Amino acid sequence: AEVVILPSAAEAGELAARAIAALVATTPDAVLGLATGSTPLTTWRALAAQALDLSRVRGFALDEYVGLPEGHPESYRAVIAREVAEPLGLTPALVRVPGDGGGALSGAGARYENDIIAAGGVDLQILGIGRTGHIGFNEPGSSLASLTRVKTLAEQTRIDNSRFFPSIDDVPTHCITQGLGTILRARHLVLLAFGSGKAAAVASALEGPVSASTPGSVVQLHPKVTVIVDEAAAADLE
Ligand code: F6R
Repeated sequence: AEVVILPSAAEAGELAARAIAALVATTPDAVLGLATGSTPLTTWRALAAQALDLSRVRGFALDEYVGLPEGHPESYRAVIAREVAEPLGLTPALVRVPGDGGGALSGAGARYENDIIAAGGVDLQILGIGRTGHIGFNEPGSSLASLTRVKTLAEQTRIDNSRFFPSIDDVPTHCITQGLGTILRARHLVLLAFGSGKAAAVASALEGPVSASTPGSVVQLHPKVTVIVDEAAAADLE
């Protein structure tokens, strides 16, 4: 992987936004893999500031909670609309979230995989990493070849994400997430991480053994990975 260490999340977001802008300049209908959470916010902000025409870009979110009522403001469907699609000027119908479009949850993973393939695959996947080492919501123990499916959230992840909910009891216990195998099919991975809380997860993802107990370590299997971190998140790298 190419590892870029920058002084701030703002500068990291600018670099990631430049990578997306360069892709869209040559491929106006590029397929972007979208992460939610706090980490990509500086990327979306920097990209929105460029005021590019992104109306033909297609988006596939990494994951979604299971069990929130339709339209819940913390559903990733709603978060992606509010924090990504609207500021960037994406076309809502071109942005997909796992499990959307109704139908049984049991078939939702396969439908999502088929939809990604039908779109020609993901050109550039934005990734954050959890303190458990997850990418997407592939918690430790996820198969390296896994595809989109329903998973149980790690307790640590529910605690980390409880900041978006009135209490921990309101955080869903399950999610539907692209698998590690799904993520590896994207043509370019851009992994972002900021702050000392991510330092251990970044070091084991990039320098530890490739293992299902460290889901982020699958990026070591991918031929085109750009890791953009701030100094605090890079602190445990050799
Ligand atoms: C979000 C996702 C997660 C987050 C990770 C980090 O769609 O798939 O892997 O990227 O939990 O979250 P933040 O950025 O909020 O620290």
